[in-house]
Amino acid sequence: MRRDCSKYECEQKHSESRIPIWKILLKTYHGGNVLILPEKIRKELDVLLSSGVQPRNVYAVDKSPAVIAIFTRTLSALERSGIHRRGALASVACPAWAKEGVQLEAAHFDLCGNVQGYRHGSVRQELESIARCGIIDNARIAVTVEKGRESSELIEQFDRIGLLTAALKNGLRGRRSTVKVLDSRTYQNGPSPMLWVAFQIKGGIVCRSKSTAK
Ligand SMILES: C[S@@+](CC[C@H](N)C(=O)[O-])C[C@H]1O[C@@H](n2cnc3c(N)ncnc32)[C@H](O)[C@@H]1O
Repeated sequence: MRRDCSKYECEQKHSESRIPIWKILLKTYHGGNVLILPEKIRKELDVLLSSGVQPRNVYAVDKSPAVIAIFTRTLSALERSGIHRRGALASVACPAWAKEGVQLEAAHFDLCGNVQGYRHGSVRQELESIARCGIIDNARIAVTVEKGRESSELIEQFDRIGLLTAALKNGLRGRRSTVKVLDSRTYQNGPSPMLWVAFQIKGGIVCRSKSTAK
């Protein structure tokens, strides 16, 4: 992904992605745990904190430990001791947190990939693994992907939202969960056309949340 964005791109991402996504995800918020892929900046974290989410309820993950280390430098001492952080794939961090008893109430998987690939670390495999571990069994989640970046024109014949929904349903297989699309939006992030989709996942087996787990 682009490391430096122009003022235009940053503002575009803020007004067309972070702000509307978290407005939807936190509409029914009851003080539970939320997850972000913050990259090395704290803009998304600030949206959460200004919406009333407490640092101890924030889970931050990036597949690069170096990125999490840089993100950590942006945190105050209080935030540092509260916010749970892991440098790992989301599909690795989420099952580990789920094993500790963590349940998420909301999450934004800003995965910056396309929906075409189906290999280790790809968007659809990540979503399947995350859904399988149970951590989003009763959560509002959003998924952001790069739209139109697929190498095959065939993908245009498929419904991207349908492919994301199918990945979540595959992961939830065997449990009595439903996946409902709440909203979606396409926007331009510099040269990249992006798509985000917000989902409500309901009805899985509810585990008690351990919000203090690190
Ligand atoms: C688009 S940036 C996140 C930007 C941030 N959400 C914001 O609003 O400013 C995506 C980040 O996710 C990380 N990433 C991509 N796929 C991932 C995965 N499967 N697991 C964990 N991190 C991932 C990348 O390393 C990158 O730093």
